[in-house]
Amino acid sequence: MNIAVRYYSRTGNTKAVAEAIAKAADVSAVSVDQPDAVISEPVDVLFIGGALYAYGIDGNLKDYLRLLDKEKVKKAVVFSTSWISKHSLDLIKKGLAENGIQTEAETFYVRSRPNESQLKAAEAFAKKFI
Ligand SMILES: Cc1cc2nc3c(=O)[nH]c(=O)nc-3n(C[C@H](O)[C@H](O)[C@H](O)COP(=O)(O)O)c2cc1C
Repeated sequence: MNIAVRYYSRTGNTKAVAEAIAKAADVSAVSVDQPDAVISEPVDVLFIGGALYAYGIDGNLKDYLRLLDKEKVKKAVVFSTSWISKHSLDLIKKGLAENGIQTEAETFYVRSRPNESQLKAAEAFAKKFI
């Protein structure tokens, strides 16, 4: 099974979740603004995460969702962090749907910085789809 983990994180919270998911999947978590974030080989599951900033998602993540090759992504699983609102989950799902990519209904969300038990929960969440 091919797994990829991609995220965008300004202050490290979503990155920490991405790294816990990546650990469970035994792959690297790659920020979407890095050249190697491009999905060039088909993946069965793409874990994709970002946070909410002023009620929107970062432009880097928006662009990445728009440019994803739907032929290379069988299914996406979304995760996010924010202070309060879970709207980022919907925005990421919307970006994927607009690109024709199927998204798992279940998502993973942490309020602000994840603690150790939340990182363990992220690992357990990821294992359900691997
Ligand atoms: C400039 C800025 C704007 C934010 N706007 C919102 C917001 O509208 N709603 C919310 O719930 N959280 C908001 N947050 C909180 C972030 O979503 C939260 O800290 C998140 O965990 C940051 O993820 P990151 O560390 O991966 O960048 C904002 C944070 C920043 C820095």
